[in-house]
Amino acid sequence: MMQIAPSILAADFLHLEKDIQLVNRCGDVIHLDVMDGTLVPNISFGFSVIDQVAKIATAPMDVHLMVVHPERWFEKIAKDGARMCSFHWEAAGRNTSRFIKQIQDLGMKAGVVINPDVPVSKLYPYIGKADYFLIMSVFAGFGGQKFIYESIDRVAALRAEIARRGAQALIEIDGGINLGNARAVEEAGVGLAVAGSSVFGAEDPAAAISALRGA
Ligand code: DX5
Ligand code: ZN
Repeated sequence: MMQIAPSILAADFLHLEKDIQLVNRCGDVIHLDVMDGTLVPNISFGFSVIDQVAKIATAPMDVHLMVVHPERWFEKIAKDGARMCSFHWEAAGRNTSRFIKQIQDLGMKAGVVINPDVPVSKLYPYIGKADYFLIMSVFAGFGGQKFIYESIDRVAALRAEIARRGAQALIEIDGGINLGNARAVEEAGVGLAVAGSSVFGAEDPAAAISALRGA
């Protein structure tokens, strides 16, 4: 069954504790989007929020860094107790293998992320190194965007390449995930789906999570 990572970006920031507890109870992973306004055209939140979330999080935290120089923050994120930490290949380039190792040495699972306009083959050199790959199914920067359908083929291609090499890696997807595409992305090979608006915009977020999971 596909796991679901509700994205806090779509949560109610005036009542954040309520939404974190909901994810603790009903979700699999807490997805935290950090944006710097440079790598992506938006600013979200930073450690003033993550430090607080960490105090009450019982579900594992997955920090998605949409920032230039992501390596500046790995240590702090590990100290906050995050289980997963991902950075964009677009921000890391030739440092990608080094960043993966730094994250793993800090005791976290390391993920490499690509936007929809980056060929999926750019991830292939990191198969066997990264613990997970995050395929953006919208351009990183905003919640509530429309799912880009070609992302399904990108997931399938990545899954096939991982299998061809006899390697193992989790595939995560992020952006526009809803009941209309959840089964298709799962069949293509996604093990962990991020969902913001389709969870926190739903009348019953707990039911939305189970429906997305396919329970
Ligand atoms: C977008 C973020 C996503 C976002 C997803 O840049 O990385 O995690 O919160 O939101 P939805 O599910 O609404 O597309
Ligand atoms: Zn994200």
